[in-house]
Amino acid sequence: MAPVSEPSYDERYSRAGWYWGTKPSGLARDVLRVVRSLPRRSRQLVDLGSGEGRDSIYFARNGFRVEGVDLSRVGIVKAARRAARLGLRIRFHVGDVRTYRLKRPLDVVFCSGALNNLPRRIRAARLAHFKANTVPGGINAMNAFVPKPYLAPSPEMDPSESPFRSGELLGYYGDWRILDSGQLEFDCNSSGVPHRHAMDVVIAQKPD
Ligand SMILES: C[S@@+](CC[C@H](N)C(=O)[O-])C[C@H]1O[C@@H](n2cnc3c(N)ncnc32)[C@H](O)[C@@H]1O
Repeated sequence: MAPVSEPSYDERYSRAGWYWGTKPSGLARDVLRVVRSLPRRSRQLVDLGSGEGRDSIYFARNGFRVEGVDLSRVGIVKAARRAARLGLRIRFHVGDVRTYRLKRPLDVVFCSGALNNLPRRIRAARLAHFKANTVPGGINAMNAFVPKPYLAPSPEMDPSESPFRSGELLGYYGDWRILDSGQLEFDCNSSGVPHRHAMDVVIAQKPD
């Protein structure tokens, strides 16, 4: 299948409406479920690749102090406006997941849909940075697209994105407690070409 050139995120987010919808992602809902089952603690969270802010807003509504970071200025502005309309205080700012440095350890480092923007050569160092900047007992919740030999390559994979190997994401958390992990497959038609994605998902807790 020939690759389809996807519009930039700025272009997608410039359109009316919400490219990813306004409902939270499945990963965000899973994080809330997991966090509620843990002893009460402070709830400072960073949403890396926050897009139009649907998950950041969901977390803020559920008592988290949230920072949203995305490369798309259009997404950041749109997310910040929506949060303001809802009366939520969320710090949204432009940042690059490849270089962004967390300034202090947080309770939750969350990244849904943006990890594939980490080139392979910097992946281990970046994940080590996120892990080091998580408080003991805190959580990292991540997902990453993975190619499978029986699925056609994603027609919308941006050339700047790099797939994770199947199971690779879990490997970065070998020294943490795995609260949830698995591989999802789902249909997608976002480029107008129906296809299936496979995605690794990990929710891991840093040992106390
Ligand atoms: C698949 S979207 C997911 C957006 C959001 N997490 C959601 O689920 O609604 C991926 C997001 O990653 C952002 N992104 C792409 N490259 C990035 C980078 N290097 N640093 C930060 N964000 C990036 C895009 O702008 C986009 O908003």
